[in-house]
This record gives sequence, structure tokens and C-alpha cells, in this order.
Amino acid sequence: MAQSKGAEETSEELFARADAALYAAKDAGRNRIVVAGQHAPVRARRLFPLTAAKQEPVVQPSPMPVPDTRALRILLVDDDPGLLMLLRTTFEIVDINVEEARSAAEAQARLAANRPDVIVLDVAMPVVDGLAYCRALKADPETSGLPIVILSGSDHSEDEAMAAGAEAFLRKPFSPLDLLAIVEQLAGGLFEGPFRLMTEERPEEQLLLYAHDLRRLLELERGQRYLLKTAYKETIGAFAGALEAKDFGTGAHSKRVVRYARELTSALEPSLLEDPSLEDGFLLHDVGKIGIPDSILQKPGPLTREERRLMRTHTLLGAQLLADVPLLQGEGLSVIRSHHERWDGSGYPDLRGGDEIPLGGRIFAVADSLDAMTSDRPYRAAYPWETAVAEIHIQSGRQFDPDVVDAFRSVEPKLQRIHGELAAA
Ligand SMILES: [Fe+2]
Repeated sequence: MAQSKGAEETSEELFARADAALYAAKDAGRNRIVVAGQHAPVRARRLFPLTAAKQEPVVQPSPMPVPDTRALRILLVDDDPGLLMLLRTTFEIVDINVEEARSAAEAQARLAANRPDVIVLDVAMPVVDGLAYCRALKADPETSGLPIVILSGSDHSEDEAMAAGAEAFLRKPFSPLDLLAIVEQLAGGLFEGPFRLMTEERPEEQLLLYAHDLRRLLELERGQRYLLKTAYKETIGAFAGALEAKDFGTGAHSKRVVRYARELTSALEPSLLEDPSLEDGFLLHDVGKIGIPDSILQKPGPLTREERRLMRTHTLLGAQLLADVPLLQGEGLSVIRSHHERWDGSGYPDLRGGDEIPLGGRIFAVADSLDAMTSDRPYRAAYPWETAVAEIHIQSGRQFDPDVVDAFRSVEPKLQRIHGELAAA
């Protein structure tokens, strides 16, 4: 964004100023507005509350109004370009504005243009060292309220840093995440010490510590993803169990059909298992029964025509109920809708036949029927395993997809073992 100085400014000068602003913006990073000749970054997001008590009144030189909700801003003063780059990368990951200075003089110019919330100051610098600059800042009423973190490669500097008035001390090499924690606390007025954060020996190189930090972040992120996935699985498992209690009074049916269907899928089309929604669809296949009256679900005798019609709506009800759940989009939702379709087209709800029925639904139909036949019902005892197997063979090309029945033949002994394992569950 260029500011016109007046009519006498030539177009070349304007272009040069615009270029300078562009490069300054690129150098400053994303999400910033840079004013040509002033280098005043402004952020729209607020990350941390700013401490009114610690802020000295100061006149903002920027013509732009600084909103109350601006992001945290720090000034890094160090003459080591490698460390500056590492710190800048760390802080900008969390959207903190970073101003850099390679000397006390440059820092003073930055301060005059843009007041930071925290100053991070290296001790070893040419001309004016960090401790002397810290004392000068603390002696000046304009800057005495600014929190300062001193960085040093020497333990001796700790006492001197405290005597110079710094709020915190970090010995190099240090973890950028540790510095980040201190800066956030100082900016929020929450830092209560200890004055020196790191007391243990840290023999690693700065880059190695940075790599450790990245690994810590990745592990945290991975752990959170695992927790989220586990919580989701447990939630839908509990949901399926609650539904089944309403239907059959036990959670074993869900466990068995999921295992059967997974084995059949693995034998017929393993790539289908890459769709994470598939197994959830197996588990929640009868979720629509939540809308079916208990008097129908638990009726000991055969259903009337009207009751059967109502019962059949559980496929549509389930698909509608979960239509907006992002994690179920895909084959999982298809299983819920289509698990009562028949290969010959006489099933429900859509009267689809053959390959028109989603493969997950065709697979699940075999798993569901197998378990229905081999389980006790209020109105009949379970059929022997062999009877159920024979019935599935008979229904090949009629109720069931012949390819799924072939896959069933190949894994049937395994399914019988699963049946035995989960019979007492
Ligand atoms: Fe069903």
C-alpha cells in the first residue's frame, strides 16, 4: 500500500516505493499490511490478551488505527541470523508478529516505529551488548514497562540479566517452544517465574533442539488425532450398543456382523476397507430403528403387513439421520440405506438389483442374514450354522450377489470361528 507524498512525486518514485513495500511485505510474511517507508505490520487476529498494566502509554506513529484485538507482537534482537530465522519460524507458526533487529541501534529504531509486547534480547551483540541495552530500556520511562527476555550462552549472565531488570532469562541453546511459552505469559501478564526457566543441562545444538520441538509438536498432534478418532469410534460403538439393546437386548450382534462383513470385504474387495466410513456403516446399519416403535421391534410373533412396512423404513430413516455426518460420507452411508436390497431386485427401500446395489450393501446383506439365522429370536431358536450356510448358498443370485457368496465360501470357516468367539459375548 503506497502513500502519496504529493504531486511532485514521479511515477518512477511511486513504483520504487511500491516495490519496496512489496518486498517488505514478502519479507514480513503473510497476513500483513505494510506501509511503504514505515514498515508497520498490522494483524487482524487476536491471540492473547494484552496487559494494560504493563503497557506504557505511547503515541503510535502509524497512521492506521491499531485495533484492540491485534495479535501479539515481539521484537527479536540478536545478531545471529540463523537463530533469528529459527525463532521467527517458530513464532510465526502461531501467528505472532515478529520484528527483527540485529543491534541495539536497530532495535531502538524499530521500537520508535512499532511498540512490541515483548522484547527478546541476546546478550552478545556488537557495540551495545544486550545487558547494557536492557538497562537503558528499563531506565527509560517510555520503555521501562516492556517485558524483556534475555538470551545468553553463559550462565554468568543470569544474575546480570536480573540486575538489568529483565523479566526472564534463557540460556542458549534453548527450546523455541520454551521461549514461546515465556513470551506468551509475559505478554499476558501471567509470567510468575522462575526468573530462569531452564536449569537442566541442554548440551544439544540449537537446530537439534528445534528438531526436538517439531517432534514434540508432531507427537502432540498425532496424539490428539488418535484421541479424537478413539472418541469417535467409542461414541458410535456406544450408540450402536444402545440401539441394539432396544432391538435385541445385547451388543453382540453388532460386533459379529462387523467382523463377518470385514472378513467378506477383505476376501472380495480389500480396497473397500480403505474407506473409513465402511466399518462405521456396518456398525450403524440399523441406526434407523431408533424411529421404529418398541412394540414392533420387540414383537414376539410375526409382523403384520403394516408393521413390516413401518419396519422397512429403518433403512431410509438411518440414511436420513446420518446424511450430514461428514465421517460417514461414502460407502458407510450406502450400507445403511442398501443393506436390505436383494440381488434379484425385490428388496427395499429402492428395489435396486445386481450391481446397482452398492457393494458394501451387498456384502453386508450376507453378513447380516448369517447372523440373523444363527441367533435366537423372540419367536424362534437359532438355526444350526450348517443350515445358515446352506441357505446362503441357495440364495446366491437370488437374495445375494454370487461373488459375495463365493467370497463367503472362502472365509466361512473363519466366520464360524468368529461366531464361536463372540457367541458368549
Ligand atoms: Fe436392517
